[in-house]
Amino acid sequence: MPDPTPTRGPCLPPELAIIIPTFNEAGNVAEIARRIGVSLEGIRWEILFVDDDSPDGTAERVRDLARQDPRIRLLRRVGRRGLSSACIEGMLATTAPYLAVIDADLQHDETLLPRMLERLKSEELDIVVGSRYVSGGSVGDWNQRRQAMSRLASRMAQRLIHADLADPMSGFFLLRAPILADCVGDLSGVGYKILLDIFASSPRPLKFLEMPYGFRQRERGESKLDNAVLWEYLLMLLQKLIGPRIPVRFIAFSLIGGSGVLVHLAVLWLLNRLLGTSFLIGQSVAALVAMTTNFFLNNVLTYRDMRLRGRQLIWGWFSFVLACSIGAIANVGIATYLFEGDSGWVLSALAGILVGAVWNYAVTAVYTWRGKAG
Ligand code: GDD
Ligand code: MN
Repeated sequence: MPDPTPTRGPCLPPELAIIIPTFNEAGNVAEIARRIGVSLEGIRWEILFVDDDSPDGTAERVRDLARQDPRIRLLRRVGRRGLSSACIEGMLATTAPYLAVIDADLQHDETLLPRMLERLKSEELDIVVGSRYVSGGSVGDWNQRRQAMSRLASRMAQRLIHADLADPMSGFFLLRAPILADCVGDLSGVGYKILLDIFASSPRPLKFLEMPYGFRQRERGESKLDNAVLWEYLLMLLQKLIGPRIPVRFIAFSLIGGSGVLVHLAVLWLLNRLLGTSFLIGQSVAALVAMTTNFFLNNVLTYRDMRLRGRQLIWGWFSFVLACSIGAIANVGIATYLFEGDSGWVLSALAGILVGAVWNYAVTAVYTWRGKAG
């Protein structure tokens, strides 16, 4: 007698969830979904598009697809950006025991997915990575600069994760859901290096395999990875070195604060030394200029994913300058107090700076970037 339980179809929960982060991929979503459907014939799958409210109507396109096929789902995030966090949230939004992440733009080879799943199971691996850098893989038509950048980033990454991964930057991989569950609390979620983040955050070394594929050319839409991605990558490395206790935004904020000191000195030198204004005026203008450059740098780097634009910039700048001015008073107050209590000038100054920095960070996180900072 034939087994009465259905082994296929949407009435059974999916075995494999494919997470596809999207930003402005309206022209690609139908094709990637179609190709995945063809490749995964015979496997119970679902596709989760995680869209960061793309202005080109990607979410609408996905919704159209989902209306025709219940295995396709949409997770739409509003007021957020970020490839890593999109992947993490997509992976957390499914109950499938196996999770895959793949780009929407058809640059990854979706025909590899069934073999990735097969080997993950048969060889009892934790994770299988689609790799451009093992024999048989390729990076396609990347220019020299991009290739060099990618190689440098990979080398730095290998040191960090102590795993001999040829392509730690890959955005194409398949893993067991519990592996994610084990490290999800420690993921930095910043930037676009989700695979690296998983390897670096896993409580034990992962059993992995790299399978080669040829990185294809993008046919429609454009790459979203710009120079700021490099900055996010550095932040992520720093975060892994320093540990999860200190928020990565605070690290970024402090680095930018340090750059503000240089701006301050440069402006003061220009006004006071070169143009001969009084020290008081020079110092005041320098402080204002440094706060202003800090504000804009923080806006595009630290709070890149919740950047203030247009008229919001005015309130943002004003609240930032106000908060930092109070921070400066606290800084001087504490330092003077400690100094008078015989703490030594270096220690007193550092304590003042620390208190000022924490104050500035905490207050601007809530008031300037409107409590969006988590
Ligand atoms: N939800 C969401 N939010 N998706 C995003 C975002 C974002 O902020 N930024 C990019 N994506 C999506 C894109 O729509 C695409 O599906 C995928 O993430 C990869 O983005 P691309 O802009 O196409 O990246 P790439 O081709 O330049 O970079 C590839 O190579 C890197 C290796 O150097 C990607 O595969 C990366 O994942 C990979 O690390
Ligand atoms: Mn791409």
